[in-house]
Amino acid sequence: MPAPLMPGGHPLLGHLRFFSDGPLALMRAALDSGEPLVRLKIGRRGGFIVHDPAAIRRILVEAPDVYQKRTRGYAKLKLLLGEGLVTSEGPFWLRQRRIAQPAFKKPRLEVFVQTMDRAAADLVGQWAQGGEQTVDVAEAMNRLALRIAGETLFSADVTGEAKHIGDAMLAVLERFGPLVSAPIPWPEYWPFPANLKMWRGIRTLHGVVDQMIADRRKNGGPGEDLLGLLMGATDPETGEAMTDRQLRDEALTVLLAGHETTANALAFALMLLAQHPQVQDAAAAEAQAALGDGPIDFAAIKRLTYTRQVLLEALRLYPPVWLLARMPMQDDTLCGHPVNRGAFVFVCPFSMHRHPEHFPEPDRFDPTRFAADAPAPDRHVYFPFSRGRRQCLGDRFAELEAVLILGALLRRFRLEWIEQPVTLAPSVTLRPEGGIRLRVTPRA
Ligand code: HEM
Repeated sequence: MPAPLMPGGHPLLGHLRFFSDGPLALMRAALDSGEPLVRLKIGRRGGFIVHDPAAIRRILVEAPDVYQKRTRGYAKLKLLLGEGLVTSEGPFWLRQRRIAQPAFKKPRLEVFVQTMDRAAADLVGQWAQGGEQTVDVAEAMNRLALRIAGETLFSADVTGEAKHIGDAMLAVLERFGPLVSAPIPWPEYWPFPANLKMWRGIRTLHGVVDQMIADRRKNGGPGEDLLGLLMGATDPETGEAMTDRQLRDEALTVLLAGHETTANALAFALMLLAQHPQVQDAAAAEAQAALGDGPIDFAAIKRLTYTRQVLLEALRLYPPVWLLARMPMQDDTLCGHPVNRGAFVFVCPFSMHRHPEHFPEPDRFDPTRFAADAPAPDRHVYFPFSRGRRQCLGDRFAELEAVLILGALLRRFRLEWIEQPVTLAPSVTLRPEGGIRLRVTPRA
Protein backbone atom coordinates (compact mmCIF):
# COMPACT_ATOMS: atom_id res chain seq x y z
CA MET A 1 0.00 0.00 0.00
CA PRO A 2 1.35 3.47 -0.85
CA ALA A 3 2.44 5.70 2.04
CA PRO A 4 -0.16 8.30 3.10
CA LEU A 5 -0.04 11.52 1.11
CA MET A 6 1.01 14.64 2.99
CA PRO A 7 -1.98 17.00 3.10
CA GLY A 8 -1.80 20.61 1.90
CA GLY A 9 -0.32 20.12 -1.58
CA HIS A 10 -1.10 22.54 -4.41
CA PRO A 11 -3.18 21.01 -7.26
CA LEU A 12 -0.49 21.82 -9.85
CA LEU A 13 2.74 22.41 -7.97
CA GLY A 14 2.15 19.72 -5.34
CA HIS A 15 4.38 20.21 -2.30
CA LEU A 16 7.20 21.93 -4.17
CA ARG A 17 6.33 25.40 -2.97
CA PHE A 18 6.93 24.33 0.64
CA PHE A 19 10.59 24.02 -0.19
CA SER A 20 10.86 27.72 -0.87
CA ASP A 21 8.09 28.89 1.51
CA GLY A 22 8.36 26.85 4.66
CA PRO A 23 10.38 23.66 4.55
CA LEU A 24 10.78 23.50 8.35
CA ALA A 25 7.02 23.77 8.81
CA LEU A 26 6.51 21.04 6.19
CA MET A 27 8.90 18.69 7.99
CA ARG A 28 7.30 19.49 11.33
CA ALA A 29 3.81 18.87 9.92
CA ALA A 30 5.00 15.50 8.58
CA LEU A 31 6.26 14.63 12.08
CA ASP A 32 3.04 15.86 13.72
CA SER A 33 0.99 13.68 11.36
CA GLY A 34 2.31 10.73 13.38
CA GLU A 35 3.08 8.82 10.17
CA PRO A 36 6.56 7.27 9.99
CA LEU A 37 6.57 7.83 6.23
CA VAL A 38 4.58 10.37 4.21
CA ARG A 39 4.45 10.86 0.48
CA LEU A 40 4.98 14.20 -1.27
CA LYS A 41 4.00 15.35 -4.71
CA ILE A 42 7.21 16.87 -6.06
CA GLY A 43 8.68 16.48 -9.50
CA ARG A 44 7.81 13.55 -11.73
CA ARG A 45 8.84 10.85 -9.29
CA GLY A 46 7.50 12.24 -6.03
CA GLY A 47 9.11 12.27 -2.62
CA PHE A 48 8.96 10.94 0.93
CA ILE A 49 9.62 12.29 4.42
CA VAL A 50 10.86 9.71 6.88
CA HIS A 51 10.42 9.82 10.67
CA ASP A 52 11.23 6.25 11.59
CA PRO A 53 14.53 5.14 13.18
CA ALA A 54 14.67 1.77 11.36
CA ALA A 55 14.01 3.42 7.99
CA ILE A 56 16.62 6.11 8.73
CA ARG A 57 19.08 3.35 9.60
CA ARG A 58 18.35 1.63 6.29
CA ILE A 59 18.84 4.83 4.28
CA LEU A 60 21.99 6.13 5.95
CA VAL A 61 23.74 3.04 7.29
CA GLU A 62 22.57 -0.20 5.66
CA ALA A 63 21.92 0.78 2.08
CA PRO A 64 23.93 3.91 1.15
CA ASP A 65 24.53 2.39 -2.30
CA VAL A 66 20.77 2.39 -2.85
CA TYR A 67 20.13 5.80 -1.28
CA GLN A 68 22.61 8.03 -3.07
CA LYS A 69 23.20 11.77 -3.09
CA ARG A 70 21.83 12.17 -6.61
CA THR A 71 19.25 14.82 -5.72
CA ARG A 72 18.80 18.26 -7.18
CA GLY A 73 20.13 19.81 -3.97
CA TYR A 74 23.51 18.09 -4.29
CA ALA A 75 23.60 18.94 -8.02
CA LYS A 76 23.22 22.63 -7.14
CA LEU A 77 25.78 22.32 -4.34
CA LYS A 78 28.23 21.01 -6.93
CA LEU A 79 28.14 24.41 -8.64
CA LEU A 80 30.15 25.59 -5.65
CA LEU A 81 31.84 22.49 -4.28
CA GLY A 82 32.39 20.42 -7.43
CA GLU A 83 33.33 16.82 -6.62
CA GLY A 84 34.42 17.50 -3.04
CA LEU A 85 33.89 15.14 -0.10
CA VAL A 86 30.31 16.23 0.64
CA THR A 87 29.06 15.98 -2.94
CA SER A 88 31.02 13.14 -4.59
CA GLU A 89 30.01 9.47 -4.63
CA GLY A 90 31.43 5.98 -5.16
CA PRO A 91 35.09 4.95 -5.41
CA PHE A 92 36.24 8.54 -6.04
CA TRP A 93 34.63 9.69 -2.77
CA LEU A 94 36.09 6.73 -0.86
CA ARG A 95 39.61 7.46 -2.07
CA GLN A 96 39.34 11.13 -1.13
CA ARG A 97 37.88 10.29 2.28
CA ARG A 98 40.80 7.95 3.00
CA ILE A 99 43.27 10.67 2.08
CA ALA A 100 41.61 13.28 4.28
CA GLN A 101 40.91 11.05 7.30
CA PRO A 102 44.37 11.19 8.97
CA ALA A 103 44.04 14.98 9.32
CA PHE A 104 41.20 14.37 11.83
CA LYS A 105 42.85 11.72 14.02
CA LYS A 106 43.55 12.29 17.72
CA PRO A 107 47.22 13.40 17.49
CA ARG A 108 46.27 16.10 14.98
CA LEU A 109 43.21 17.10 17.01
CA GLU A 110 45.44 17.63 20.05
CA VAL A 111 47.53 20.10 18.05
CA PHE A 112 44.39 21.78 16.65
CA VAL A 113 43.08 22.37 20.17
CA GLN A 114 46.03 24.72 20.80
CA THR A 115 45.02 26.80 17.78
CA MET A 116 41.38 26.77 18.87
CA ASP A 117 42.40 27.95 22.34
CA ARG A 118 44.52 30.83 20.97
CA ALA A 119 41.72 31.97 18.68
CA ALA A 120 39.11 31.79 21.48
CA ALA A 121 41.47 33.67 23.85
CA ASP A 122 41.83 36.47 21.29
CA LEU A 123 38.06 36.85 21.08
CA VAL A 124 37.78 36.83 24.88
CA GLY A 125 40.42 39.58 24.95
CA GLN A 126 38.44 41.67 22.45
CA TRP A 127 35.19 41.28 24.34
CA ALA A 128 36.91 42.07 27.66
CA GLN A 129 38.29 45.30 26.21
CA GLY A 130 34.87 46.30 24.95
CA GLY A 131 33.32 46.06 28.46
CA GLU A 132 29.54 45.70 28.57
CA GLN A 133 28.32 45.56 24.98
CA THR A 134 25.84 44.10 22.51
CA VAL A 135 27.36 41.50 20.22
CA ASP A 136 26.01 39.70 17.16
CA VAL A 137 27.15 36.27 18.27
CA ALA A 138 26.28 34.68 14.92
CA GLU A 139 28.77 36.95 13.18
CA ALA A 140 31.36 36.61 15.94
CA MET A 141 31.17 32.80 15.88
CA ASN A 142 31.42 32.78 12.11
CA ARG A 143 34.65 34.78 12.15
CA LEU A 144 36.09 32.67 14.93
CA ALA A 145 35.22 29.34 13.32
CA LEU A 146 36.54 30.54 9.96
CA ARG A 147 39.84 31.54 11.53
CA ILE A 148 40.11 28.15 13.25
CA ALA A 149 39.29 26.16 10.09
CA GLY A 150 41.80 28.21 8.07
CA GLU A 151 44.63 27.90 10.58
CA THR A 152 44.18 24.26 11.56
CA LEU A 153 43.41 22.66 8.22
CA PHE A 154 45.23 24.96 5.81
CA SER A 155 47.76 26.81 7.99
CA ALA A 156 46.33 29.94 6.40
CA ASP A 157 45.13 33.20 7.88
CA VAL A 158 41.81 33.87 6.17
CA THR A 159 40.52 36.36 8.75
CA GLY A 160 41.38 39.28 6.46
CA GLU A 161 38.98 37.74 3.94
CA ALA A 162 36.23 37.03 6.49
CA LYS A 163 33.86 39.73 5.25
CA HIS A 164 34.40 38.73 1.63
CA ILE A 165 33.85 35.05 2.41
CA GLY A 166 30.79 35.78 4.58
CA ASP A 167 29.13 37.94 1.91
CA ALA A 168 29.91 35.42 -0.81
CA MET A 169 28.53 32.55 1.28
CA LEU A 170 25.35 34.49 1.92
CA ALA A 171 24.86 35.23 -1.79
CA VAL A 172 25.23 31.51 -2.56
CA LEU A 173 23.13 30.20 0.34
CA GLU A 174 20.29 32.64 -0.30
CA ARG A 175 20.04 31.40 -3.87
CA PHE A 176 20.23 27.74 -3.00
CA GLY A 177 16.62 27.21 -1.86
CA PRO A 178 15.03 28.93 -4.88
CA LEU A 179 17.31 26.98 -7.26
CA VAL A 180 16.41 23.66 -5.68
CA SER A 181 12.67 24.32 -5.83
CA ALA A 182 12.54 26.27 -9.15
CA PRO A 183 9.95 24.89 -11.60
CA ILE A 184 12.11 25.99 -14.62
CA PRO A 185 15.02 23.96 -16.06
CA TRP A 186 18.64 25.03 -15.35
CA PRO A 187 17.46 27.91 -13.15
CA GLU A 188 21.03 28.93 -12.29
CA TYR A 189 21.81 29.97 -15.87
CA TRP A 190 18.98 32.48 -16.23
CA PRO A 191 20.47 35.98 -16.03
CA PHE A 192 18.54 37.14 -12.95
CA PRO A 193 20.35 39.56 -10.61
CA ALA A 194 20.22 36.96 -7.81
CA ASN A 195 21.92 34.41 -10.09
CA LEU A 196 24.61 36.88 -11.11
CA LYS A 197 25.20 37.65 -7.43
CA MET A 198 25.47 33.93 -6.70
CA TRP A 199 28.01 33.37 -9.48
CA ARG A 200 30.06 36.33 -8.18
CA GLY A 201 29.96 34.70 -4.75
CA ILE A 202 31.11 31.38 -6.19
CA ARG A 203 34.00 33.09 -8.02
CA THR A 204 35.06 34.84 -4.81
CA LEU A 205 35.09 31.59 -2.83
CA HIS A 206 36.98 29.74 -5.57
CA GLY A 207 39.45 32.64 -5.69
CA VAL A 208 40.16 32.45 -1.93
CA VAL A 209 40.97 28.75 -2.09
CA ASP A 210 42.93 28.98 -5.36
CA GLN A 211 45.11 31.62 -3.72
CA MET A 212 45.67 29.39 -0.69
CA ILE A 213 46.80 26.55 -2.98
CA ALA A 214 49.02 28.85 -5.06
CA ASP A 215 50.66 30.26 -1.90
CA ARG A 216 51.36 26.76 -0.64
CA ARG A 217 52.95 25.72 -3.95
CA LYS A 218 55.11 28.86 -3.94
CA ASN A 219 56.24 28.36 -0.36
CA GLY A 220 57.60 24.85 -0.89
CA GLY A 221 56.51 21.40 0.32
CA PRO A 222 52.96 20.25 1.01
CA GLY A 223 53.24 20.37 4.85
CA GLU A 224 51.44 18.29 7.45
CA ASP A 225 47.97 19.82 7.51
CA LEU A 226 44.92 18.76 5.51
CA LEU A 227 45.95 20.80 2.48
CA GLY A 228 49.37 19.13 2.67
CA LEU A 229 47.81 15.67 2.78
CA LEU A 230 45.64 16.48 -0.22
CA MET A 231 48.55 17.95 -2.19
CA GLY A 232 50.90 15.10 -1.35
CA ALA A 233 48.42 12.31 -2.17
CA THR A 234 48.80 10.32 -5.37
CA ASP A 235 46.43 7.97 -7.15
CA PRO A 236 47.46 4.40 -6.26
CA GLU A 237 46.84 3.26 -9.85
CA THR A 238 48.15 6.12 -11.97
CA GLY A 239 50.55 7.71 -9.47
CA GLU A 240 49.12 11.10 -10.40
CA ALA A 241 48.57 13.88 -7.87
CA MET A 242 45.26 15.70 -7.59
CA THR A 243 44.59 18.37 -10.16
CA ASP A 244 44.21 21.96 -9.00
CA ARG A 245 40.49 21.63 -9.62
CA GLN A 246 40.21 18.58 -7.35
CA LEU A 247 42.30 20.31 -4.70
CA ARG A 248 40.02 23.32 -4.83
CA ASP A 249 36.87 21.21 -4.52
CA GLU A 250 38.19 19.37 -1.46
CA ALA A 251 39.72 22.39 0.22
CA LEU A 252 36.67 24.60 -0.26
CA THR A 253 34.35 21.80 0.88
CA VAL A 254 36.22 21.36 4.14
CA LEU A 255 36.72 25.09 4.69
CA LEU A 256 32.98 25.72 4.35
CA ALA A 257 31.72 22.49 5.97
CA GLY A 258 34.23 23.07 8.76
CA HIS A 259 33.29 26.58 9.79
CA GLU A 260 29.71 27.43 8.78
CA THR A 261 28.15 24.47 10.63
CA THR A 262 30.16 24.88 13.83
CA ALA A 263 29.54 28.63 13.87
CA ASN A 264 25.78 28.16 13.60
CA ALA A 265 25.80 25.49 16.31
CA LEU A 266 27.67 27.88 18.61
CA ALA A 267 25.39 30.83 17.84
CA PHE A 268 22.29 28.79 18.67
CA ALA A 269 23.91 27.37 21.81
CA LEU A 270 24.76 30.89 23.02
CA MET A 271 21.22 32.03 22.24
CA LEU A 272 19.76 29.17 24.29
CA LEU A 273 22.14 29.88 27.17
CA ALA A 274 21.14 33.54 27.17
CA GLN A 275 17.48 32.51 27.24
CA HIS A 276 18.10 30.07 30.12
CA PRO A 277 20.19 31.90 32.76
CA GLN A 278 20.15 28.99 35.23
CA VAL A 279 21.63 26.62 32.69
CA GLN A 280 24.14 29.31 31.77
CA ASP A 281 25.20 29.83 35.40
CA ALA A 282 25.69 26.09 35.88
CA ALA A 283 27.81 25.86 32.72
CA ALA A 284 29.80 28.96 33.73
CA ALA A 285 30.45 27.49 37.19
CA GLU A 286 31.66 24.28 35.56
CA ALA A 287 33.96 26.22 33.20
CA GLN A 288 35.45 28.26 36.05
CA ALA A 289 36.05 25.17 38.20
CA ALA A 290 37.34 22.94 35.39
CA LEU A 291 39.47 25.46 33.53
CA GLY A 292 40.65 28.00 36.10
CA ASP A 293 42.34 30.89 34.29
CA GLY A 294 44.72 28.79 32.24
CA PRO A 295 44.86 27.70 28.63
CA ILE A 296 42.36 25.04 27.57
CA ASP A 297 43.84 21.75 26.41
CA PHE A 298 42.42 18.40 25.34
CA ALA A 299 42.14 17.09 28.91
CA ALA A 300 40.43 20.28 30.13
CA ILE A 301 37.78 20.02 27.41
CA LYS A 302 36.95 16.50 28.61
CA ARG A 303 36.17 17.95 32.06
CA LEU A 304 33.44 20.21 30.59
CA THR A 305 30.80 17.50 30.74
CA TYR A 306 27.77 19.74 31.38
CA THR A 307 28.88 22.18 28.67
CA ARG A 308 29.00 19.24 26.28
CA GLN A 309 25.41 18.39 27.22
CA VAL A 310 24.45 21.99 26.43
CA LEU A 311 26.07 21.64 22.99
CA LEU A 312 24.35 18.30 22.26
CA GLU A 313 20.99 19.77 23.27
CA ALA A 314 21.57 22.85 21.07
CA LEU A 315 22.43 20.48 18.19
CA ARG A 316 19.19 18.66 18.88
CA LEU A 317 17.00 21.73 18.67
CA TYR A 318 18.93 23.52 15.92
CA PRO A 319 20.94 20.97 13.92
CA PRO A 320 23.06 23.02 11.48
CA VAL A 321 22.62 20.34 8.80
CA TRP A 322 18.86 20.24 9.19
CA LEU A 323 17.98 18.09 6.15
CA LEU A 324 19.55 15.10 4.41
CA ALA A 325 18.22 14.24 0.97
CA ARG A 326 18.79 10.99 -0.87
CA MET A 327 17.58 9.34 -4.07
CA PRO A 328 16.96 5.56 -4.25
CA MET A 329 18.67 3.98 -7.25
CA GLN A 330 16.18 1.10 -7.23
CA ASP A 331 12.65 0.46 -5.94
CA ASP A 332 12.69 -0.22 -2.22
CA THR A 333 10.41 -0.59 0.81
CA LEU A 334 10.42 1.68 3.86
CA CYS A 335 8.06 1.25 6.84
CA GLY A 336 6.18 -1.37 4.81
CA HIS A 337 5.41 1.06 1.95
CA PRO A 338 6.86 1.07 -1.55
CA VAL A 339 9.46 3.73 -2.32
CA ASN A 340 10.07 4.19 -6.01
CA ARG A 341 13.41 4.54 -7.75
CA GLY A 342 14.29 8.18 -8.46
CA ALA A 343 12.07 9.65 -5.73
CA PHE A 344 13.36 12.25 -3.27
CA VAL A 345 13.76 10.80 0.20
CA PHE A 346 14.11 13.33 3.00
CA VAL A 347 15.54 12.55 6.41
CA CYS A 348 15.23 15.62 8.58
CA PRO A 349 17.32 15.88 11.76
CA PHE A 350 15.45 19.10 12.65
CA SER A 351 12.05 17.39 12.93
CA MET A 352 13.29 13.93 13.95
CA HIS A 353 15.14 15.52 16.90
CA ARG A 354 11.75 16.79 18.10
CA HIS A 355 10.04 13.39 18.01
CA PRO A 356 7.77 13.38 21.10
CA GLU A 357 8.10 9.61 21.61
CA HIS A 358 11.83 9.95 22.01
CA PHE A 359 12.12 13.42 23.55
CA PRO A 360 9.35 14.31 26.04
CA GLU A 361 8.40 18.01 25.74
CA PRO A 362 10.50 18.10 22.59
CA ASP A 363 10.65 21.89 22.20
CA ARG A 364 12.02 22.44 25.69
CA PHE A 365 15.75 23.14 26.09
CA ASP A 366 17.00 20.63 28.64
CA PRO A 367 20.69 19.67 28.53
CA THR A 368 20.16 16.94 31.17
CA ARG A 369 18.64 14.80 28.41
CA PHE A 370 22.28 14.08 27.55
CA ALA A 371 23.50 13.49 31.13
CA ALA A 372 25.70 10.42 31.63
CA ASP A 373 23.00 8.71 33.72
CA ALA A 374 20.16 9.45 31.24
CA PRO A 375 19.41 6.83 28.56
CA ALA A 376 21.35 7.74 25.39
CA PRO A 377 19.05 8.57 22.47
CA ASP A 378 18.87 6.09 19.60
CA ARG A 379 21.51 7.06 17.02
CA HIS A 380 18.89 7.11 14.26
CA VAL A 381 16.67 9.46 16.23
CA TYR A 382 19.45 11.88 17.20
CA PHE A 383 22.07 12.28 14.47
CA PRO A 384 23.29 15.88 14.04
CA PHE A 385 26.41 14.57 12.25
CA SER A 386 24.44 12.04 10.16
CA ARG A 387 25.22 8.33 10.39
CA GLY A 388 26.86 5.61 8.34
CA ARG A 389 29.75 5.94 5.95
CA ARG A 390 28.82 9.50 4.92
CA GLN A 391 28.85 10.65 8.54
CA CYS A 392 30.59 13.96 9.18
CA LEU A 393 34.36 13.73 8.91
CA GLY A 394 34.82 16.60 11.35
CA ASP A 395 32.43 15.53 14.13
CA ARG A 396 35.09 15.22 16.84
CA PHE A 397 36.83 18.35 15.60
CA ALA A 398 33.54 20.25 15.79
CA GLU A 399 32.66 18.97 19.24
CA LEU A 400 36.07 19.84 20.68
CA GLU A 401 35.99 23.27 19.10
CA ALA A 402 32.46 24.10 20.23
CA VAL A 403 32.91 22.90 23.82
CA LEU A 404 36.23 24.74 24.09
CA ILE A 405 34.73 27.99 22.83
CA LEU A 406 31.66 27.74 25.07
CA GLY A 407 33.90 27.10 28.08
CA ALA A 408 36.26 29.96 27.19
CA LEU A 409 33.40 32.44 26.82
CA LEU A 410 31.27 31.33 29.76
CA ARG A 411 34.07 31.42 32.30
CA ARG A 412 34.54 35.14 31.59
CA PHE A 413 31.18 36.53 30.39
CA ARG A 414 27.50 36.56 31.18
CA LEU A 415 25.17 36.56 28.17
CA GLU A 416 21.79 38.24 28.33
CA TRP A 417 18.90 37.68 26.00
CA ILE A 418 17.56 40.82 24.32
CA GLU A 419 13.97 40.30 23.19
CA GLN A 420 14.24 39.94 19.42
CA PRO A 421 12.73 37.71 16.79
CA VAL A 422 15.23 35.10 15.59
CA THR A 423 14.28 33.89 12.15
CA LEU A 424 15.48 30.46 11.11
CA ALA A 425 16.83 30.37 7.57
CA PRO A 426 16.94 26.77 6.34
CA SER A 427 19.29 26.69 3.35
CA VAL A 428 22.11 24.13 3.02
CA THR A 429 22.62 24.86 6.72
CA LEU A 430 20.22 26.18 9.31
CA ARG A 431 21.24 29.75 10.09
CA PRO A 432 19.82 32.55 12.21
CA GLU A 433 18.82 35.09 9.57
CA GLY A 434 20.00 38.59 10.43
CA GLY A 435 22.13 37.33 13.34
CA ILE A 436 21.56 36.95 17.09
CA ARG A 437 22.33 39.96 19.28
CA LEU A 438 23.15 39.29 22.92
CA ARG A 439 24.20 41.57 25.78
CA VAL A 440 27.66 40.52 26.91
CA THR A 441 28.91 41.49 30.38
CA PRO A 442 32.19 40.45 32.02
CA ARG A 443 31.55 38.09 34.96
CA ALA A 444 32.80 39.35 38.32
C1 HEM B 1 28.51 21.31 14.51
C2 HEM B 1 29.23 21.17 13.43
C3 HEM B 1 28.98 20.21 12.31
C4 HEM B 1 27.83 19.56 11.97
C5 HEM B 1 26.47 19.64 12.65
C6 HEM B 1 28.14 18.74 10.81
C7 HEM B 1 27.23 17.90 10.19
C8 HEM B 1 27.52 17.15 9.06
C9 HEM B 1 26.57 16.30 8.40
C10 HEM B 1 25.13 16.07 8.85
C11 HEM B 1 27.19 15.74 7.34
C12 HEM B 1 26.57 14.81 6.29
C13 HEM B 1 26.11 15.68 5.14
C14 HEM B 1 25.44 14.95 3.99
O1 HEM B 1 25.02 13.80 4.12
O2 HEM B 1 25.38 15.58 2.94
C15 HEM B 1 28.54 16.24 7.32
C16 HEM B 1 29.49 15.91 6.39
C17 HEM B 1 30.78 16.40 6.39
N1 HEM B 1 31.34 17.26 7.32
FE1 HEM B 1 30.43 18.01 8.95
N2 HEM B 1 29.44 18.94 10.47
C18 HEM B 1 30.00 19.81 11.37
C19 HEM B 1 31.31 20.24 11.41
C20 HEM B 1 32.29 19.85 10.53
C21 HEM B 1 33.68 20.22 10.63
C22 HEM B 1 34.28 21.06 11.75
C23 HEM B 1 34.31 19.67 9.54
C24 HEM B 1 35.75 19.76 9.15
C25 HEM B 1 36.66 20.37 9.80
C26 HEM B 1 33.31 18.95 8.77
C27 HEM B 1 33.55 18.28 7.61
C28 HEM B 1 32.63 17.49 6.95
C29 HEM B 1 32.94 16.75 5.74
C30 HEM B 1 34.27 16.73 4.99
C31 HEM B 1 31.76 16.05 5.38
C32 HEM B 1 31.57 15.09 4.21
C33 HEM B 1 31.84 13.69 4.71
C34 HEM B 1 31.71 12.60 3.65
O3 HEM B 1 30.68 12.50 3.01
O4 HEM B 1 32.67 11.85 3.53
N3 HEM B 1 32.09 19.08 9.41
N4 HEM B 1 28.72 17.10 8.40
